[in-house]
Amino acid sequence: MEQKKILVTGGLGFIGSHTVVCLHEAGYKPVIIDNLHNSRIEVLLALEKLIGYSPDFIQGDVNDKALMSEIFKVHQPNAVIHFAAHKAVGESVEQPLMYYHNNVVGLVSLLEVMQNAGCKKLVFSSSCTVYGEPEQVPVKESTPTRPAASPYGATKQMGEVILKDNSWFEVQCLRYFNPVGAHESSLIGELPLGVPNNLIPYLTQTVAGIRPQLTVHGGDYNTPDGTCIRDYIHVMDLAEAHVAAIGRLFADKIAHSVELGDPSCNNFEVFNIGTGDGYSVLEVIAAFESATGEKVPHIIGPRRNGDVVAVWAETTKVNDVLGWKASRNLETMMRDAWNWQRAVS
Ligand code: WQD
Repeated sequence: MEQKKILVTGGLGFIGSHTVVCLHEAGYKPVIIDNLHNSRIEVLLALEKLIGYSPDFIQGDVNDKALMSEIFKVHQPNAVIHFAAHKAVGESVEQPLMYYHNNVVGLVSLLEVMQNAGCKKLVFSSSCTVYGEPEQVPVKESTPTRPAASPYGATKQMGEVILKDNSWFEVQCLRYFNPVGAHESSLIGELPLGVPNNLIPYLTQTVAGIRPQLTVHGGDYNTPDGTCIRDYIHVMDLAEAHVAAIGRLFADKIAHSVELGDPSCNNFEVFNIGTGDGYSVLEVIAAFESATGEKVPHIIGPRRNGDVVAVWAETTKVNDVLGWKASRNLETMMRDAWNWQRAVS
């Protein structure tokens, strides 16, 4: 049977690069497009070491419809995994237009090219931020979304609406929680350009001496230790969830779970991709120190705009429908994140 080609937008990024490795290991042929806005070309060399060949790579932007049309003509992908988007909550508060252009206009551009090319299978990177500040946790896929706490979250809510309104596409919508860690080889990992927005890269850069100290954004929230709670998931578990979602798109005669009670949505399936466990910022710091033996210099500072207090996943649906469950614990996440930081420092 001919090897299925998967176009991976943002495939040199943090989650994209780990997913490329898992796609290869599952027998798919990844084709990468990336504009290198938040990734580096060196990742391609690392991928060659990990999968044994240099995957097809095109440097470009999903908003470049002429380029994207050419990619579909030449490579004829059987499906697309769409990672290419800006994803920092705090940054989106400061630069909302950049987020709406890249994340929403970019998605529409991609869908128009896919439709013209007759490619209907899509795995969409959504986010737990679509829940806003949930009234109760853990959140289920059926938990009503609330006003997003940041423009980033709003772009993911809009992306889901756009996809639900276009039922020609067959969509696996994956709501990520907090991806952290790195491949066990330390050849690929999280490579934030500039000052990291996210907790774990800032934490590991602090321990590596690149940053003077970690500021915990807020210590007076209504949580057991006053700091925000999140569902941290190992990036390899997240990558494996994408392979499971791709597999479902190619499975024959699957009983689509009708989403959100709307029968017209049965080509749109949404899954929470988390571990089902919530940890506070201080618990993460303690877990890192325990897993690595390193101290994390930190202070408690002011709250950050756009943060929700607590959100973590209820994962029964993805466990049952996709047959996927996260297998790596917080200690492993912290150890792999630290090994990666040491490899790149
Ligand atoms: C986590 C916690 C911060 C930095 C991320 C992604 C987003 C989405 C959800 C996929 C918060 C605190 C952070 C720091 C801190 N994932 N923090 N000091 O905001 O939950 O969003 O996961 O779609 O794309 O960005 O992640 O790592 O920024 O913050 O105290 O220097 O760590 O306040 O409570 P967030 P984060």
